[in-house]
Amino acid sequence: MKKFLIAGNWKMNKTIAEAKEFAEAIKAKDLPNAKDVCILAPFTALSELGKALEGSGIGFGAQNVHFEQSGAFTGEVSVPMLKELGVGYCAVGHSERREYFAETDKTVNLKLKVLLEAGITPILCVGESLEVREQGSEQTFVAGQVVEDFEGIPAAEAAKVVIAYEPIWAIGTGKTATPEQAEDMCAFIRGVISGIYDNATGDSMLILYGGSMKASNAKELLEKPDINGGLIGGASLKVDDFASIATDAASL
Ligand code: 13P
Repeated sequence: MKKFLIAGNWKMNKTIAEAKEFAEAIKAKDLPNAKDVCILAPFTALSELGKALEGSGIGFGAQNVHFEQSGAFTGEVSVPMLKELGVGYCAVGHSERREYFAETDKTVNLKLKVLLEAGITPILCVGESLEVREQGSEQTFVAGQVVEDFEGIPAAEAAKVVIAYEPIWAIGTGKTATPEQAEDMCAFIRGVISGIYDNATGDSMLILYGGSMKASNAKELLEKPDINGGLIGGASLKVDDFASIATDAASL
């Protein structure tokens, strides 16, 4: 059976009160695959969200972390701080962080290493811009990201990373990659991982698709053999939509 992870990325949305309300509503849905579902929330909501989700099986995580353990990095949050909150996941290298906050493959690589060391599952985001896709260089571009991001990470650790393929042109635009485009790239990424490491590592890796995934298109994406789930932005803010996507995954 194919493994799935349905991850909601709330981005800069939801106060503590709203996060708690969402947690109660999603718990009430009693998802059959709650253990394969997680929510990446703003730092401010993590503590209360974690408490509200306790016992539900649904995981929770952060959207970013600093690669140093502590120090003079105003406004940043470290791995020990996340660990104390009991987070299971942390997004790394989201395109919005790469674009607006100068995230590079070098810092992504450092972040992956400190998260893995702490036993927090990184959700590594990769994906090309519209310009790169129009040039037909999307595979070269994404392979370059993957190779740099995994630099110096041994196979046993690499296997614990979740990769999310998020074409930038499909994020928040309503323009979803076709199931074939998403499948092609997820299969390609799996091949890159197999090439860096070995087939077992590539085969076992969870590779998600992200970019305007919603209740109406999730199933056709999730059905594809190399797509192990979704990283969902807008549609993860609404309990019914998010639960519908998770339920689709459970049915496959
Ligand atoms: P949307 O689902 O809103 O397009 O966002 C995707 C995303 O960036 C998830 O990380």
